[in-house]
Amino acid sequence: MSAMKEEKLMTEELIDVEFHDRVMLLRLNRPEALNALCKKLIQQLNAALDQAENDARIGAIVITGSEKAFAAGADITEMCHLTFTDVSDKDFIHTWERLSQCQKPVIAAVSGYALGGGCELAMMCDIIYAAESAKFGQPEITIGTMPGAGGTQRLTQLVGKTKAMEICLTGRLVSSKEAEQIGLVSRVFPEADLLKETMVTAAKIANFSGPVVRMIKEAIRHTTESELVGGIRFERRLFQSTFALEDRQEGMTAFVEKRPAVFKHR
Ligand code: CAA
Repeated sequence: MSAMKEEKLMTEELIDVEFHDRVMLLRLNRPEALNALCKKLIQQLNAALDQAENDARIGAIVITGSEKAFAAGADITEMCHLTFTDVSDKDFIHTWERLSQCQKPVIAAVSGYALGGGCELAMMCDIIYAAESAKFGQPEITIGTMPGAGGTQRLTQLVGKTKAMEICLTGRLVSSKEAEQIGLVSRVFPEADLLKETMVTAAKIANFSGPVVRMIKEAIRHTTESELVGGIRFERRLFQSTFALEDRQEGMTAFVEKRPAVFKHR
């Protein structure tokens, strides 16, 4: 990455924050990279979530992207040159879990691609609304790595073992229609209605008693997360281990160089 582009990333707002009465709307705004989740974007997302948690006037949070992409995954360009030691020592991407710890309700409004880390980010939210255009998937296998932010765990919990296996092991894309059928998304709307409908639901929830909303969320998380905690950590460590593989280096380099990957199975 050139020095100038890097400087832009350091100073740029990669998330637009809007307030609509009791709803905080967070719009991922990195269109040139289809909202790929770089370190800076996650830092800004986490800062916005901290702000929402600490502000009693906020009762619900909506996360959305653009029409083309909710988010196309972790930033492959940023990860490409990392070594196993780099990712293992720093417990790479552990900070992403901040979203799953949020006490206030979070709704994802997904248009276009929600792939890899983008699908994982959506699954950390409490409700997923999708546009007809939405495409979900865990394509990490195609770049020589694996989901690292809950993809193998939350997807399995939501859609069951054989569907999760098929989605993660083939890297294929899942349409919004199929995503609704298998229980990955809550509801599907025409593109033009997605954000409006999401904001209506968010406002409705935000105007119920805050403590009651929090207790309901805590109770549902109790059943889903008691099974998840160990699995999320196990998956993240395995994901980090893929950085020791030549195939992971080849897969990510091939994506950056816009050519097919040639795996050597080592
Ligand atoms: N990281 C970095 N840059 C990305 C990106 C990503 N995940 N996804 C897209 N981009 C960039 C592209 O490099 C391209 O940049 P340039 O214009 O500078 O070349 C720009 O966004 C537009 O992308 P495409 O030209 O590829 O757009 P397309 O419409 O032809 O294809 C796509 C769209 C199918 C989503 C394709 O971009 C794609 O396959 N992206 C990668 C998806 C992926 O593998 N995600 C998993 C990442 S690993 C991960 O997320 C690990 C984890 O669990 C945390």
